[in-house]
Amino acid sequence: MTPDLKGRSLSSMRNHTRAEIELMLDTAADARERKRRGERPLRLAGRNIAVVFLKPSSRTRAAFVVAAADEGAHAEVLRAEDVRFGVKESVKDIARVLGRLYDGIAFRGFGEDVLEALVEHSGVPVWNALTERYHPTQALADMLTLRDEFGTLERLAITYVGDGRNNVARSLAIAASKMGFQLRILAPPELQLPAEELGEFGDAVLATHDPEVALHESAAVYNDVWVSMGEEGELERRISLLRDFKVTPELMAATGRDDTIYLHCLPAYHDLETEFARAHPDAREVDDAVFEGPQSRVFDQAENRMHTAKAVMVLSLGG
Ligand code: CP
Ligand code: NVA
Repeated sequence: MTPDLKGRSLSSMRNHTRAEIELMLDTAADARERKRRGERPLRLAGRNIAVVFLKPSSRTRAAFVVAAADEGAHAEVLRAEDVRFGVKESVKDIARVLGRLYDGIAFRGFGEDVLEALVEHSGVPVWNALTERYHPTQALADMLTLRDEFGTLERLAITYVGDGRNNVARSLAIAASKMGFQLRILAPPELQLPAEELGEFGDAVLATHDPEVALHESAAVYNDVWVSMGEEGELERRISLLRDFKVTPELMAATGRDDTIYLHCLPAYHDLETEFARAHPDAREVDDAVFEGPQSRVFDQAENRMHTAKAVMVLSLGG
């Protein structure tokens, strides 16, 4: 039986089954095909979507706004100065107001407490567009990109290199535990997920600081920035912990496969075209040769953010 995601929120993906995740990926691939054929199914016609973002975003915000417009919905971006959670109004009150006005809420913020309060009190589907612990809509686009390349996720080995405790790594770990691929987190011990969390994932997640173990036969090498939004004060310590974990052509070659791809959630520090990278050239997580090279699929991945956001909204709101 096809799973029914109508009315469902997406907080961390922990409560989603493999069949439900497969449905989201199939729906995204189908939406991409339809868009390329010029079809406009307008499955969200007349709907209103709140895009509540307390942190900056290019891709995720644009993904939700474009996906909503493609399907005939209106999306409204609300920033921290518009929704002053816990400053001028309680989270619970704002949640109830948003739920009266909007049919769904995409939320980007800090801790999980605001997201969970929105889920509990708004009465409409809430989609996590990045919190400190999770980035599930990113993981969906990552899985779609991997599936496009390899046809299946089953038994793939994916090596995530960098801060293994961040939102992107944790969501990939959850995805691996659901979907039958192995996530190998290549990071120093200080930046690995805590042992009790790793225990939950069993063999689906391997934490190691040994590049040989992490990279052998890997189908993809995955990067994120070394310092996530909100933890800028950690920069110097992160550089010292991660300087030996930069993705280089040599690291890519260590998989021993000639079809390994390179993925990055973006934004990425790979050249000196940004103020940040010019100020902190040692904080670049990847060589330009890899980022711009033939193995890189980062812009397919970025496009897939939109198709997967569309799938999530269409399935939650029932076409
Ligand atoms: N990958 C990602 O979430 O990018 P944005 O921060 O630009 O949304
Ligand atoms: N880990 C990063 C992801 C950005 C898309 C952050 O939280 O800033």
